[in-house]
Amino acid sequence: MKSTVETQVFENIADLRQWRCRLRYKDNFDRQPIVGFVPTMGALHQGHMSLVQKALQECSHVVVSIFVNPIQFVKGEDFDKYPRPFEKDLELCVRAGVHAVFHPTCEQMYPNGQASLTRVVPPGELTGHLCGAFRPGHFEGVATVVAKLFGQVEPNYAYFGEKDYQQLVVVRRMVADLDLPVAVVASPTVRESDGLAMSSRNVYLNSGERAVAPVLHQTLLTVSKNATSKALTLQEALADGRRKLEQVPGLTLQYLEACDAITLEPVAECKHPMVVLVAAKLGDVRLIDNIIVPKI
Ligand code: PAJ
Repeated sequence: MKSTVETQVFENIADLRQWRCRLRYKDNFDRQPIVGFVPTMGALHQGHMSLVQKALQECSHVVVSIFVNPIQFVKGEDFDKYPRPFEKDLELCVRAGVHAVFHPTCEQMYPNGQASLTRVVPPGELTGHLCGAFRPGHFEGVATVVAKLFGQVEPNYAYFGEKDYQQLVVVRRMVADLDLPVAVVASPTVRESDGLAMSSRNVYLNSGERAVAPVLHQTLLTVSKNATSKALTLQEALADGRRKLEQVPGLTLQYLEACDAITLEPVAECKHPMVVLVAAKLGDVRLIDNIIVPKI
């Protein structure tokens, strides 16, 4: 069913800011709007839309940004071929009843170029391991663009998926360290029926890779079960998981680690709250997933 909201589309920052300003001062003088923000790189799927739905339930106005951010891609990654089905994405936002879609160009976002740019540098203890070790500079690019988007949209609430767990921790820490006036809301990972975490990059998988991809989620479930049931120690459970993943044809394991769910510090033994995180390449496609281990 189509929504009654008329979705505004902004391609430049000035127009977005004008809309945001009017929201505050002109149209809602006696009832302040609550603005929810869902930053994305587009190629929207049900994972993204679960954040949008949550934002629509909790806020009076919802902004979705669609921007494939060049500075978070490491050299040799898929920036050029990253899917950009903008018309389809817009249709999903219109149907959901999103109030504003912000779709800036690289020139709008980085008018002084990308080389000489004031950047947000998250602390090394959050970015030196897990994905940060395989994608140097990635989280600096994420934190910088998210800080810019927060400045442009001025949201009250910003919605992030637990699917990108390290990103969530980095953003939370940036908001705390820089006293940014926004509340970060986390939302659970949405999965395909066979357990594969939804991702814009899943479209790159060929049919053979797609068939084995759920092994990541299955392994996380097994590690979590083995460690919490005390059938194995945490380290044995992780070693068992790594061994199984390394045997999957075509799969290159990058990491399978257990960390404190708040600080992301690696943990030696089971503790609460704890998250087990995995990254692997299936052919050329890099997939990540994680599981928050339930309290024993
Ligand atoms: P993108 O990969 O498009 O993801 C946008 C948001 O959707 C992120 O918060 C991500 O965690 C969430 N998401 C993706 N797949 C999900 C799933 N299966 N279930 C629940 N949430 C899911 O993450 C980025 O873009 C960028 O780094 C960004 C934050 C926009 C900065 O450029």
